[in-house]
Amino acid sequence: MTETALAYAKVNLSLDIVSKMPDGYHSMQMVMQSVSLADEITLTCEKGEGIRVKSELSFLPGDARNIAAKAALAFFNYTAITGYRTHIELVKKIPVCAGLGGGSSDGACVLRILDKMFKTALTRAELEKIGMEVGSDVPFCIDGGTSLAEGRGEILTNLTPLPECFILICKPPFSCSTPALFKRINVDKIKARPDTPGLIKALSRSDLTGVARRMYNVFEDVLPRGGREIDEIKGVMQDKNAIGTVMTGSGPSVIGLFENGDAAQEAYIQLRKSYKECFLSRTVERLGYK
Ligand code: C5P
Repeated sequence: MTETALAYAKVNLSLDIVSKMPDGYHSMQMVMQSVSLADEITLTCEKGEGIRVKSELSFLPGDARNIAAKAALAFFNYTAITGYRTHIELVKKIPVCAGLGGGSSDGACVLRILDKMFKTALTRAELEKIGMEVGSDVPFCIDGGTSLAEGRGEILTNLTPLPECFILICKPPFSCSTPALFKRINVDKIKARPDTPGLIKALSRSDLTGVARRMYNVFEDVLPRGGREIDEIKGVMQDKNAIGTVMTGSGPSVIGLFENGDAAQEAYIQLRKSYKECFLSRTVERLGYK
């Protein structure tokens, strides 16, 4: 049995850290959006055993350390299905360690494919629960679209879809460690936070400018390095009429929202002169899992 599907990247329109929980994880408030930049996943199951992951990126693990393999393992544990050898082939388009949820989206896509392949008819809630064992952003990536993610990322509320727009993504050539960034956060000392209720209200009015104006990520204020580069990327996007810019997730990718496709294209061309990893993408709506 073989199935192929797309795993869409996610961006944060906002990221706020509400508190530190007793288990060391942080309670979050994030407005998340799926975008058309996507990995392609081909999954094959045959009689046998073991899970292998293959991709053209030699540094990605091919064994159970890979989030795609972890997701397959979690699916088989949950459903008690045994006796299959699973081969997962990833065509990676989403940059790795970029704040774009590439690994999480791959994990969620593997869960969706396996549910379809084995006709297990799991509900969205079940897939999200399995996803949570695999990574904090996996539950959002099950159904995608526009959502508020709270708790560790598992408490999801569907929001009014972001009005169609162009989302330019630019990843500067360094990476940020997510656990290291969380360690730099002192929740009581966060000075500026996103106006999450205002952002949600702007979404409900389909007010793209209102959304763009309220985009904010508290991680931007504790970056150990690269802050200047992030500001430079934002500056180029703003010069080309981006209506809002923000760093996504734990970075370092920066997104710019554009109403106008030509302006987004111009910003893309300008940024490509300095940055290899630039992507002009569109919004993607919820897949529609029940
Ligand atoms: O769950 P995930 O593997 O994506 O998280 C990576 C790391 O980020 C965790 O080990 C933890 O240190 C930190 N984290 C956190 N609070 C969250 C999500 C992640 O402290 N809500």
